[in-house]
Amino acid sequence: MAGIADSAEWDALSAHYESIAETDLRDLFAADPDRGSTFVAEAGDLYLDYSKHRLNRDTITLLAAVARRAGVESLRDAMFEGERINVTEDRSVLHVALRAPRGTELIVDGVDVVAEVHEVLDRMAAFANRVRHGEWTGHTGRTIEAIVNIGIGGSDLGPRMATTALAAFADRSMTYRFVSNVDGSDFLEATRDLDPATTLFIVASKTFTTLETMTNAHSARAWSLAGLGDESAVAKHFVAVSTNAEAVAAFGIDPANMFGFWDWVGGRYSFDSAIGLSLMLAIGPDHFDDMLAGFHLMDEHFRTAPVESNLPMLMGLIGVWYGNCFGAETLAVLPYSQYLAHLPAYLQQLDMESNGKSVTREGAPVGMSTGPIVWGQAGTNGQHAYYQLIHQGTKLIPTDFIGVARAAEPIGDHQDLLVANLLAQPEALAFGKTAAEVAAEGIAPEQAPHRVFAGNHPSSTILMPELTPSTLGQLIALYEHKVFTQGAIWNINSFDQWGVELGKQLAQRIVPELESAADPAHDSSTNALIRRYRELRAR
Ligand code: F6P
Repeated sequence: MAGIADSAEWDALSAHYESIAETDLRDLFAADPDRGSTFVAEAGDLYLDYSKHRLNRDTITLLAAVARRAGVESLRDAMFEGERINVTEDRSVLHVALRAPRGTELIVDGVDVVAEVHEVLDRMAAFANRVRHGEWTGHTGRTIEAIVNIGIGGSDLGPRMATTALAAFADRSMTYRFVSNVDGSDFLEATRDLDPATTLFIVASKTFTTLETMTNAHSARAWSLAGLGDESAVAKHFVAVSTNAEAVAAFGIDPANMFGFWDWVGGRYSFDSAIGLSLMLAIGPDHFDDMLAGFHLMDEHFRTAPVESNLPMLMGLIGVWYGNCFGAETLAVLPYSQYLAHLPAYLQQLDMESNGKSVTREGAPVGMSTGPIVWGQAGTNGQHAYYQLIHQGTKLIPTDFIGVARAAEPIGDHQDLLVANLLAQPEALAFGKTAAEVAAEGIAPEQAPHRVFAGNHPSSTILMPELTPSTLGQLIALYEHKVFTQGAIWNINSFDQWGVELGKQLAQRIVPELESAADPAHDSSTNALIRRYRELRAR
């Protein structure tokens, strides 16, 4: 299949790029005073302002034509219908089924997957309610006070991000911890102040073979047994979330305490499946349902809205515009909400593991730049760290600002100060400060070049009324489908992750070499590092 770059639609976009590339955001706003209220789109509770981008109406028309030519809509429909669009693993991609309302139907290979999803959700809810109401007790009869999720990647980042995001909705009488790193200090610090008699571990792993998770799970079992002294304690203090029932049973977890999901849920698309059990324990089943409804609302928007007003498609296309026409390499995601502190890390996996690909779905070189480097942290902290580079550095860094209007628990004037900063940064980035403006402030001429802000730095601003389970679901689905849109345009498979395998295999080979005294058999650098490690460890 010819790539999108070989199409007439791409040629038209490239020609348009040549004509608009030098146009400044100041010019665009001067030419169209209504721009700030017309280059906007809404879906559910999310308002997207994309006016501060280097584009005009023609750009959107041309980008939409590219999307149609690339078959974004047909691939989207294929996903929603359960077709096996994850071609390298021969799997359906059905995270949208995880939030399909009860009673709807989606038959895949003769099975109604929506009914299966709700069966697991019901089991999760029953379990969560028992724990939350003190009916599920530990081995010694005491109620559960701490939940520790053990998982990594998609089995960690989603529930970790969402449990922080929705802390205002959580049962504050319980403690929630997340252990992911194989570095033993992660486990030690997470459990240091916990009591085995009141701690429940959730071992979350799609495969139940991941080195980090299994190592931590075994340490957790040893920690529990050291405190409780009896193998039978495992049944009361460990539950599993996995697609691998055999491995769960082999670990010693009662299959009755396993919550399943399916191979058509990718790890990075899974926190609204049973992988979100820790989140459900924190916020309760009703709030979890509200979150699923938020996801579904955005799914429906993505499925039905025309490209030109489809939020995920617009964001995906704007990313393509910068990545493939302007040559931007990164995307900064800057949420102005401390509750969203883990969102950038979550989006790193979602975007970079999905679209960090260099061959097409057919295995040919993709021939164009693909997924961006995603980075960021909660505002306003970044302003006092790296924003300098965005404002006055030499790189083009498109930015997503995310803001929440109402604080969960307002105190003083914090929220207005936070939002003032959220609004000020995109304005400063877009419009900067000219030499004339600097001179008018009476700045000495030799200082002036340092005080000029070139401006013309593009950004989107996403605003929501408040951070709730529903708006979080909408936001995450927005990014999921943005990533989908871009993968479809580049014709890459956004749903596999073969690139993480080589490092895992090499680590397995190195483990015994660290223990042995024999000569390691790698390149000279790795061999020398292995020898140095042996030496340092022995000192
Ligand atoms: O790092 C690769 C990966 O497979 C991710 O895609 C996944 O989210 C993570 O490892 C954890 O995998 P599992 O849930 O099987 O332990």
